[in-house]
Amino acid sequence: MPKGREVGSMRFEVPQVTLNLERFPEPEVNLQAWNAADSYLLEWLAENRITSGGPSCVVNDSFGALALTLAASGEAVVSWSDSFIAHQGAKANAVANGIDANNIEWVPSTAVPEVPGVLPTFGVVAIRVPKSLERLENQLATLAPYIGPETTVVAGGMTKQIHNSTIKCFENVVGPSNTSLARKKARLIFARPQEVAASSADTQPRLFNSSAGLVIFTDPALFSSSRVDPASALLLDALKPLMPSIGAANVVDMGCGTGVIGLSLLHLHPTLAVTFTDESYLAVRTTERSLQSNIDNRVIGGVIEQHRFIVDDCGSTIADGSMDLVVINPPFHDATAQTANIARRMFASAARMLRPDGTVVVVGNRHLKHHTTLRSWFDRPTIIASDRRFVVLQARLK
Ligand SMILES: C[S@@+](CC[C@H](N)C(=O)[O-])C[C@H]1O[C@@H](n2cnc3c(N)ncnc32)[C@H](O)[C@@H]1O
Repeated sequence: MPKGREVGSMRFEVPQVTLNLERFPEPEVNLQAWNAADSYLLEWLAENRITSGGPSCVVNDSFGALALTLAASGEAVVSWSDSFIAHQGAKANAVANGIDANNIEWVPSTAVPEVPGVLPTFGVVAIRVPKSLERLENQLATLAPYIGPETTVVAGGMTKQIHNSTIKCFENVVGPSNTSLARKKARLIFARPQEVAASSADTQPRLFNSSAGLVIFTDPALFSSSRVDPASALLLDALKPLMPSIGAANVVDMGCGTGVIGLSLLHLHPTLAVTFTDESYLAVRTTERSLQSNIDNRVIGGVIEQHRFIVDDCGSTIADGSMDLVVINPPFHDATAQTANIARRMFASAARMLRPDGTVVVVGNRHLKHHTTLRSWFDRPTIIASDRRFVVLQARLK
């Protein structure tokens, strides 16, 4: 079992309800579908007898611990998330627990989570503190018009994620804020809304320039949001000269993030048709925006209509045998079972969507041993580039 992980019991017990919650798309024996901050937050709401008195907005929930508990208590719930997988997982858990998923509004991060019904503000806003402070600022600024003096704003996170700057962020956007004691390494933040919640967040789109002269829109929530990731750069340097020999027409940028890999390939080969896909709504939207901007500025040739932008799980909606090349920089932040599983699922999906003579190109940390995993579907991979940390592998279908 990976160090520091709890054994993954499915039973989620809080005062409001007991649910069976699984991770999605695969249950993980070593990982739970919630964390101590979710339990703490819900217990605090129950102990303080806080019912929403209006719809609740749940932000960054994963697999439904917060949204399903509030929905099971009979409250109208909006679940606002950047993760397609989190939404799908919560929906699957709703069905498994006999909760009608249609009673919850599933709002992607790229849309505004307006209050359903007649009330102008949410009764409860329950937030899982995101990793990026800038992202939190943007989320609170977007929510500010829907937070009134009567709204209970409570956030939960693991203590290592909650800093003075996190509390300051709530104070700036919502109102005077304080924290709970730590419990099971989790902490809560309580923010008391002022009459008029002021929005101080800078919600202007960010961008950076790649070395190829591309303008790339980005968001602090995205992977490598302010520069080209060194692994992606290595992959691109290795792949660009090989493109003529691969002879690809239809390319998939799997887990596209800012879209830097597909955009860079298009810069050199504008006739390609690229399918950009990610489970992050923001990733796919910002990628589309970047491509449009680079086409408008004539940095990339062609038209936007030749490309596709898909939010889903590992490109699962892309047709079988339809692609010539799939490029992947799989998630690798830590070497847990979870990230290894995502990489494996991305490779399996690539194998499914490739034509018989199709090619996959993968970059990864050396120690993740992607070459071994790829062998389940592909011929022996060739190392086309490497440095101290990363290897770039090219393989054809078996
Ligand atoms: C290491 S980042 C690479 C991003 C980008 N390709 C780059 O090179 O900068 C991995 C990406 O995979 C996405 N991802 C994670 N799980 C996924 C899944 N199940 N389906 C699709 N994309 C996923 C993440 O959102 C992230 O954008």
